Amino acid sequence: MKIIRSPQTISAISKKLKLKKKTIGLVPTMGALHKGHLSLISEAVRENDFVVVSIFVNPAQFGPREDFKRYPRMVNKDIMLCRSRGVDFIFMPKPDHMYPKMFTTYVTVEGLSNVLCAKSRPGHFRGVTTVVTKLFNCIPADIAYFGQKDIQQAIIIKRMAKDLNMPVAIKIMPTIRESDGLALSSRNIYLNVKERKDALVLFKSLKLAKGLIKSGVSETGKIIHAMRRIIRGKNVRIDYVAIVDSDNLIPIQKITKGCIIALAVWIGKTRLIDNVIVR
Ligand code: PAJ
Repeated sequence: MKIIRSPQTISAISKKLKLKKKTIGLVPTMGALHKGHLSLISEAVRENDFVVVSIFVNPAQFGPREDFKRYPRMVNKDIMLCRSRGVDFIFMPKPDHMYPKMFTTYVTVEGLSNVLCAKSRPGHFRGVTTVVTKLFNCIPADIAYFGQKDIQQAIIIKRMAKDLNMPVAIKIMPTIRESDGLALSSRNIYLNVKERKDALVLFKSLKLAKGLIKSGVSETGKIIHAMRRIIRGKNVRIDYVAIVDSDNLIPIQKITKGCIIALAVWIGKTRLIDNVIVR
C-alpha cells in the first residue's frame, strides 16, 4: 500500500492503471475510519482491481463555527486499517494541495443543496461537491462509494455526476450501526456516556416510523409528529425530522415506496443524523 500526498502523483498513477485497463474504486473519507467506512472499502476491494481511499478533512465543507479543528484525526490507525483491508493507495493531500492560495472555483448542485441538513449547515454541500469533483478529476475511478448514512450527500453526488457527465458510477452502501442501533459516525466520539444513551433516540424514532408505516399509517404528518414526540431529553434538540422524495428531497404528504425518512438532532454540542429508506 502506498501513501500519496500530491494530487499530481495520484493522477499520474491512476492514469497508468487506466492505460493498463485496470478498474479503480475510490472511497472518499475524512479519516477516523470506523466500520461504516470499512464496509465501503471492503466493497471497493471486492469490485475493483485497485482501490484508492482518500483521507482529507475538507475545510471547505465546515462552517466557521463548526468542528473543523477538533474533528478526529487518527492517521496511523487509519493507515493500519486500510492496509489490513487490502487498499492499494491512500490519497492524503494537505489543505494547500487541494486549495492553493488563488482557489476560487466551486461546484454547486442547486436545490438539493439547500434543504434538510443545508438549512443549519449553509455552504456545506458546496464544499462536499467541490472536493469530490476534485477527487474525481485526480482519480479516474470506475466506481466511487458513499454511505447511506449521509443520504443527502450521496443523492447530491449522484445528481452531480449525472448532470456533469462525470464518467464514474456512484454506489450507495447501507448504513452500518452499533449493536443498539446507533449509526456509526466519526463524531460519536464526542458523546459522553449520558449523550451516548440519548443518541439512541435517532434510531428509536426511525424504528417507530417504520412500525407505523407497517401498521398502515401513510400520512407523513402523523408519522413525523409521533417521531418528534419520542425525541426528548434534557440535552436533546431536534434540527429537523422530514419525510421526503428521494429524487428531489422535497417533503411528501403520503408515504411512497423509496421515500426517505431523515432526521438531524443535536445531542448536547454534537449534531447527529440518521435516515431510513422506505422499502
Ligand atoms: P466521512 O464522514 O468520513 O464519510 C466517508 C464516507 O463514509 C461517506 O460516504 C459516508 O456516508 C460513509 N459513512 C459514514 N458513516 C457510515 C456508516 N455508519 N455506514 C455506512 N457508511 C458510512 O462523508 C464524508 O466523509 C465527506 O463529506 C466526504 C464525502 C469524504 C467529502 O469530504
